[in-house]
Amino acid sequence: MEIKPIDPANRAFFAGRVSGIDLTKPLSAADVEAVHRGMDEFGVLVFHGQKIDDEQQLVFSKSLGPLEQATGDIAAPQDRRVSMDLNDISNLDKNNKVLARDDRRRLFGLGNMLWHSDSSFKDVPAKYSLLSARQIPDADGNTEFADMRAAYDALDDKTKAEVRDMICSHSQIFSRGILGFTDFTDDERVKWAPVRQRLVRKHPRTGRLSLYLSSHAGGIEGWPVPEARAFLRDLTEHATQRQFVYAHQWKPADLVMWDNRVTMHRARRYDHTQVRDMRRTTLTNEVSSLEQAP
Ligand code: OGA
Ligand code: MN
Repeated sequence: MEIKPIDPANRAFFAGRVSGIDLTKPLSAADVEAVHRGMDEFGVLVFHGQKIDDEQQLVFSKSLGPLEQATGDIAAPQDRRVSMDLNDISNLDKNNKVLARDDRRRLFGLGNMLWHSDSSFKDVPAKYSLLSARQIPDADGNTEFADMRAAYDALDDKTKAEVRDMICSHSQIFSRGILGFTDFTDDERVKWAPVRQRLVRKHPRTGRLSLYLSSHAGGIEGWPVPEARAFLRDLTEHATQRQFVYAHQWKPADLVMWDNRVTMHRARRYDHTQVRDMRRTTLTNEVSSLEQAP
């Protein structure tokens, strides 16, 4: 197994390409450690040519750590295409038909087009996400990733000191609201009530600090809401400048894995009449970001 930077000239430390590994087979302990080390270094790892099914994706994912459940999904249990161990990142219904343009599940899913970190709206958020491309449209539909370690490092000292101990409140109600999606049931409003997360967190293995931003963040403790949102918007604008961003152009059977503690990501547009079928497994962070102070 080998891991090389995808863009050695511009971003040698962000996004690596992994070769010499077959994800249909169980990994050795040495391979597992090499994957973790690759994640520590690059934050995003790309595996090409991995024709895997849900079961193989689950085995690979679980070999890296415990999974979280897809409790952030909006589909009713009887409408799910995949088990609760997987997030259905597709535009399909359970009969594999493309969702209508105005389908509630599709409109909710468009929230993925805003820069975010997975499950930051959960008390215990996500660690790694593993996204497997099963079917992709003819063009477009990239996924972009931004390096929140580099974004933190590039802040001036005054801002670093100011954000160091800030606590933000995160909810899917905030992020979807940005796009004008307000069609939540009372149960969903209770289930997705805001949670607290640090704005600056420390990676437990590398010790590096990163900005824990996400479109789910809708407030800063002790701040008036409009001022908090304007500030979070400024920080997000800073953190997603092109020098911090890797844009992944999907090929069939790609698997891309990212560390939600040190990255944000977003989906890009594609022709909504074409099939885009991706499955995501997600490792839990096991603890809140509140326990990962600098
Ligand atoms: C996700 C996600 C982006 C995409 O799977 O968590 O945000 O491009 N996906 O589908
Ligand atoms: Mn996501």
